[in-house]
Amino acid sequence: MSGKLRFYASLLFAVSSVLAAAASDDVKIAVYWGQNASEGTLRDTCSTGLYAYVNIAFLSTFGDGRAPVLNLADHCDPPSGGCASLATDIASCQSVGVKVLLSIGGGALGGYNLSSPSDAQGVAAYLWDNFLGGTGVAGAPRPLGGAVLDGIDFDIEAPSQYYDDLARNLTSLYRGDARGRAYMLTAAPQCPFPDASLATALGTGLFDHVWVQFYNNPPCQYAPGDDAALRSSWRQWTAGLPSATVFLGLPASLDAAGSGFVDADTLASQVLPAVEGAPNYGGIMLWSRSYDKDTGFSVKLQGILQNRNDQTGTDRVTLSDAFVFLLTSSQS
Ligand SMILES: *[C@@H]1O[C@H](CO)[C@@H](O)[C@H](O)[C@H]1NC(C)=O
Ligand SMILES: *[C@@H]1O[C@H](CO)[C@@H](O)[C@H](O)[C@H]1NC(C)=O
Repeated sequence: MSGKLRFYASLLFAVSSVLAAAASDDVKIAVYWGQNASEGTLRDTCSTGLYAYVNIAFLSTFGDGRAPVLNLADHCDPPSGGCASLATDIASCQSVGVKVLLSIGGGALGGYNLSSPSDAQGVAAYLWDNFLGGTGVAGAPRPLGGAVLDGIDFDIEAPSQYYDDLARNLTSLYRGDARGRAYMLTAAPQCPFPDASLATALGTGLFDHVWVQFYNNPPCQYAPGDDAALRSSWRQWTAGLPSATVFLGLPASLDAAGSGFVDADTLASQVLPAVEGAPNYGGIMLWSRSYDKDTGFSVKLQGILQNRNDQTGTDRVTLSDAFVFLLTSSQS
């Protein structure tokens, strides 16, 4: 192979490796489940094949001396142990490759708060013992039975402190897991950057996926025919979180949020082109399974995303073919 050919070949190889990495990391859909029994079971939600991540919503009460409370609306009754049966649904989700996380916080702002670093440490230990790899607390049944979730999601919407401590403490518990399992940290900040509640926590760089809420926030969400605010906010989020993948968080129907709903056609033609160029773009988060089930939004969305994933795959094949062509022609 001549020096010039070798140069082009290695250049093509480098480019195709980068594209291969991007394509194997296809964009995905994350969803929240738990606030409306009409959305169906967790098992059925996972078996739709639509979602890669399901956030169980919410652990709505914790911190500052409160006894933690899991609130799953009318799905089941945590105090009586009624949610322990979700363990088999969670196992079923995990067996088909869906990651299941517990989301802490949510819209009931008065219910949660951390009062000090040691409070954060206590909450981290509680989460680890009750939902993750910990062995539980003697005499206190785990709210989701034997389920070992894949991580914790921070949906903190009240002004707050010490969530950076919580993130660090959870991470050190994750790393000490006797079974060597991997656990995730995720978060759902609002789109104004930086987020008023989660900026310090996100600044730790410990979060794997961050699903930013581009709804109920007109100053940074998509407006019909005008993507400037979205683009500018998206650029800040993706540049500001280089070690995380960033998801575009959207309502799954017009009724799911006060503002920010984008129909599937507009999403494909106007919004995805504005976000998918970011190297750490991870996919779309939807609030919530209940609205999504009613409208079938993610069924359309999945079709759109698969098309776009396939196009990346095609580029990769073309480049690998070119590489092989270069190699063969250099030998003749
Ligand atoms: C949360 O905790 C902080 C720090 O202790 C305290 O200043 C604040 O008043 C608390 N907020 C609520 C809503 O409990
Ligand atoms: C919890 O995090 C704080 C700092 O954020 C640290 O000082 C403390 O040692 C951590 N505790 C554990 C058990 O990791």
